[in-house]
Formats: sequence, C-alpha cells, structure tokens
Amino acid sequence: MQRSDDQGSLTVPVRLGERSYEVDVTEGGWDRLPGRLRAAIDRSWAGRGCRKALILTDDHVAALPYPGLVRDALESLEIETIQSVVRHGEASKGLGTAEKLFEQLVAFAADRHTLVAAVGGGVIGDLAGFVAATFARGLPLFMVPTTLLAQVDSSVGGKVGVNLPRVKNIVGAFHQPIAVWIDVATLNDLPDRELRCGLAEVVKYGVILDAPFFEELEADAGAILERRPASLRRIVARSCELKADVVSRDEREETGLRAVLNFGHTIGHAVEATAGYGGAFQHGEAVAVGMVAESRLAERLGWVDAAFTGRLIRLLERFGLPTSLRGLAPGPLLDAMARDKKNQGGRIRLVLPRRLGTVELTDAAGVEDLRSLLEDLCRPDAP
Ligand code: NAD
Ligand code: GLY
Repeated sequence: MQRSDDQGSLTVPVRLGERSYEVDVTEGGWDRLPGRLRAAIDRSWAGRGCRKALILTDDHVAALPYPGLVRDALESLEIETIQSVVRHGEASKGLGTAEKLFEQLVAFAADRHTLVAAVGGGVIGDLAGFVAATFARGLPLFMVPTTLLAQVDSSVGGKVGVNLPRVKNIVGAFHQPIAVWIDVATLNDLPDRELRCGLAEVVKYGVILDAPFFEELEADAGAILERRPASLRRIVARSCELKADVVSRDEREETGLRAVLNFGHTIGHAVEATAGYGGAFQHGEAVAVGMVAESRLAERLGWVDAAFTGRLIRLLERFGLPTSLRGLAPGPLLDAMARDKKNQGGRIRLVLPRRLGTVELTDAAGVEDLRSLLEDLCRPDAP
C-alpha cells in the first residue's frame, strides 16, 4: 500500500525480501533526496562503502536540471561522481555503448560498492541497469526515470538489458534497483508524443488489474493531459503500485502472473517490428493498437462485448493514441507474432481481457482465428 507525506509525495514499496526497495513519487522535493538515498544505500550491500557513483544520462536529459540534482545529492553524501552522456534514442541501448561504460568504470576504479544512477527514459534505465547488473557481477542501481513510460513501467521491476542489432532486449538480466526517485515535474519538458506513449501503459494497468483506476483515468483525462501535478502523481504512483504487486508475486516471470503486463504487447510488438523500430509507431502507440486488436479477439471468443472495446478505444483516443491497424499488412504481423517469446508448443499465447480489471494468459485463439482477425482489422475500410 502506498503512503503519502504532508507535501503530497507518495511512496510505493516494492516487496521482494532482501531486494525490497521504495519508489518515491514527488513533485520537486529534491531536498529530501539525500536522506532517501542515504537510507537506500545503507540498506543495500554497498552501505557506507559506497564512495563513488556513475551518473548515466542522454544528451536531451543532460540539458535539463535533473542529472545535476542527482549529482548534488550524491556529493552531499560525500560520494564522488562522474557523468556519462550517451546520444538519445534506442541505438544507444547496445553492447557497444555498454562496453564504453564498462571501460569508464574501470578508469574510475569502480568496485562492487560503486553506485550506477540512471537519469533519463527507458533507454537509459535499461542500459544503466544492464551495466549495473554485469559490471563486477553487480553494482547498486538507482533509477531516476524522466519519461512517463519509464516512470510507470521500465524503472520498476528489475528487467534490464540491451538490444542486438536485429533483436530488441535480448541480452539482459533481472537486477532490481535499490531505490526509484520519480519527480513528475520532469514530465513538463516531455514532448506530447512521449507523454501519450506512457499513457498507453497507464491505461493498460486499468484494463488488466484495476477497473476503478480505469474509471479514474476516464474522469481525470483532461487534468492528466494538462499535466496537473496532483493527477500525474496519482496515476504514476498507482501504476507503480500495480506493477510492484505483480513483480513481487512473480519477479522472474515464471508463473504467468507477470505476463499479464504484456496485454496489448503481442500484437503491439508485431506492429512495432513490422513498422520498423522508431518508425510510424512508437512503442506506446503500438501497444495502444495492440490492446484494441487483442480486445477484438477477446470479443470473438465471447470473453468481452463490443461495448468493452468501444470504451477502451474512447479512452485511448481521448489520450491522442492510435487505435486502428487499418492499412497494415496482416501476413508480416502474423509472422512476427509467431516469434513472440510467450508462445509455447507452437501455440500463440496472448493476454486477453475477461472484463475490466481482469485478463488471462491464454492460447484459446488459434493461428487461423488470428489470421482472420488481422485480415479484418487491416482492411483499408476497417474501423
Ligand atoms: P527514451 O529513453 O528513448 O526517451 C524518449 C525520449 O525522451 C528521448 O529522446 C529522451 O532523450 C527524451 N527525454 C527523456 N526524459 C525527458 C524529459 N524529462 N523531457 C524531455 N525529453 C526527455 O524512451 P522511453 O520511451 O522512455 O523508453 C523506451 C525504452 O524502454 C525502450 O528501450 C524499451 O525497450 C524500454 N522498456 C523497458 C522496460 C523494462 O521493464 N525494462 C519496460 C518498458 C520499456
Ligand atoms: N514491462 C513488462 C515487465 O516489466 O514485465
């Protein structure tokens, strides 16, 4: 359960035994960071041995105050810092960049107590996390996510990794951070399209786990789009709380529970891959059309009715997200789905809605059901 303080900051615990940590969701409030960091470092194996930190960011975020605020907090704890700035974008999330960071850590005489602080979006979090997971067999990791997507998804849960040239996120580890610090004021600088992409994941939490949260998003959409801090704090904290609950029950995606987070992602990944990464569909946009398509499939199985999908479409459109596969080629989408890592024994496995707030991982739909669905949804005159 999240708790709040008298300045309206919210704290969400992620319960993972000795790897437990807390996610602070604030607006400003950076004067509290040194105390929160000290406590988190002292709880970790690094403890008072932590004397150095590498701050990783990208060139966009380096121009904002946040890496400097993290540096000031660390230096106030007498932790020496160096900063590394990589070029923004997915291309930096690769083994080449990781190798340069390893070399930088060696030159900095880093040891097992050296902290890695990620200040940026999901690319920075995944890359910094990968470096932290592997250098010297594991360094403490501190996440300061600055995109909505990173705040509600990638900074919590411990999945870290890098891409190979043709395969996304294929080299990685589970490596939980020691703390996550989220200032929703960072979102004031975020381009609208990036905000919308994060909102697709927020809507997803409502559909898969929390009907009242979905209703809150419907009611509060205007304030969210205006980036009112109280609304942003609430939706970010609730999203983190929902994700933390899933992660604490299935940290390594072994029981199928964590897989519910992939609602919209099976068709969404296929859309993203066939349209080309960084192309017509960004990740959150692909997830939005993927959720609608997967909801249509659930309709065909008799699990939900058309009104359910209509309601989902209305909320996504309110957030300025795409909802249609019109004009895409169904064949390549199906081929990409056949390669999805959730598949087992030749059956395509998807997470489909049962009702608002409840989904199920299933292989109830066969390849022919999917082919027919995609052919219908991709028609030039499809809704
Ligand atoms: P990103 O990190 O590329 O950030 C998007 C853009 O926003 C970049 O240009 C960045 O420089 C800029 N930016 C960041 N913060 C900003 C700010 N406050 N103001 C202005 N601009 C800012 O992309 P993303 O969408 O945050 O993350 C996508 C990545 O996250 C992908 O690599 C994806 O695979 C990964 N991801 C990981 C997980 C996980 O569980 N580990 C989950 C979801 C996504
Ligand atoms: N983004 C899905 C997960 O963390 O499991």
